[in-house]
Amino acid sequence: MASLTVDSKDPIELPVHAASVGPDVIDVSELTNQGYFTYDPGFVSTASCNSNITYIDGDEGILLHCGYPIEQLAERSDFLELCYLLLNGELPSATEKDDFVGEIRRHSKVDDQLRNFFTGFRRDAHPMAMMCGVVGALAAFYHNSLDITDASHRRDTAHRLIAKMPILAAMSRRHALGLPFIDPRDDLGYAGNFLHMMFAPADGDYEVNPVLARAFDRIFLLHADHEQNASTSTVRLAGSTGANPYACIAAGIAALWGPAHGGANEAVLNMLAEIGTPENIGKFVKRAKDPDDPFRIMGFGHRVYKNYDPRARVMQQTCREVLDELGVENDPTLQMAQQLERIALEDEYFVDRRLYPNVDFYSGIILRAIGIPEDMFTVIFTTGRTPGWIAHWCEMVAVPYKIGRPRQLYTGASRRDFVPIEKR
Ligand code: CMC
Repeated sequence: MASLTVDSKDPIELPVHAASVGPDVIDVSELTNQGYFTYDPGFVSTASCNSNITYIDGDEGILLHCGYPIEQLAERSDFLELCYLLLNGELPSATEKDDFVGEIRRHSKVDDQLRNFFTGFRRDAHPMAMMCGVVGALAAFYHNSLDITDASHRRDTAHRLIAKMPILAAMSRRHALGLPFIDPRDDLGYAGNFLHMMFAPADGDYEVNPVLARAFDRIFLLHADHEQNASTSTVRLAGSTGANPYACIAAGIAALWGPAHGGANEAVLNMLAEIGTPENIGKFVKRAKDPDDPFRIMGFGHRVYKNYDPRARVMQQTCREVLDELGVENDPTLQMAQQLERIALEDEYFVDRRLYPNVDFYSGIILRAIGIPEDMFTVIFTTGRTPGWIAHWCEMVAVPYKIGRPRQLYTGASRRDFVPIEKR
């Protein structure tokens, strides 16, 4: 029990709920009955829900999905197995995994009418704009399975979204290039299919490089979930109104689009291009430390990690594997990123604030080396994050839940009478 005393009034008793790992939480829901709200801009100290899916220890740089460390999953598992884990709480047996992969394959088609949505966009539309629109539009195609109180409908929706997201992502790219859409192939895996749908020319075949397919699978896996981040919280908030899951995921995609969230890897490459040459690094580090300059080192810092982001380590390793495979020796962007990282990690400003590279610091370099255009980076993140979003939505709607409705500290005018326009 915690006890809160305000203005020498009687203490207010607040229950403390125990976490299975990590900080316990003080339940402040009683405060509203006592005439108070809590104030926590950016929700830095606020737990908005309880969840069994993902645990992060930001001080130690630990990320666990249903208890399994991300490093072990990245090395020994794969994206679809992680999707199963996030949705079901346990790793699948061999048969369960085969069935799940088969289910995802079964849903790997998009309705012909949906293709028309893409052609409604200008070719130079940002692919994230297409993704927000087209994913939201999926609700129009599945009237018969939109009962959010039915567990089988929720499961089908989850599988459908995981299956269709890479197809829609590739379609957004092919539309921009004016290329015909192509369907996934049964002989390719999830990431291999994505590469094929992205890169196969209109009139020829495309050989999927297994090293790049494995790297891509790992990129999806590293992005799969990250507990109550801005986009996942958006999905939960939209879902708390009872909105359909496609609308909720479209809301999550919109939240992910911002440069402080999913747009950061694109911003890292822009920043490295702006820095230009290694001699300029010092100047930009100085700018990042200047409180009057909005410039920040993109791909550095995290709301939760005050240590090296464990995903960034795997990403850095994957980056080396991809560049080796592609025969890119001495990639100047990678060299500059590494030099910037070294300088920042030794700088008092970054050390004091515990700012370390995050998952986005190296992912842009890998994606660019594979040939993914920069405006598609956040779309890749979207595809990877889909199982996390839908797992959180399923977790929330499977049990009784309240509509999300934060309060505020009101600082506007107090009551006043209306003034007719001629007297203002
Ligand atoms: N470069 C320079 N200074 C920074 C940076 C940075 N990248 N990040 C934080 N700081 C400073 C910030 O200015 C502040 O300094 P002071 O205490 O003197 O005012 C201090 O560190 C704390 O920063 P904050 O903005 O209060 O921290 P936050 O938790 O609100 O922001 C963040 C987290 C990720 C938005 C921020 O670190 C940032 O903007 N990073 C760059 C963008 C980025 O890489 N985003 C990807 C996040 S990981 C992918 C994902 O999960 O979506």
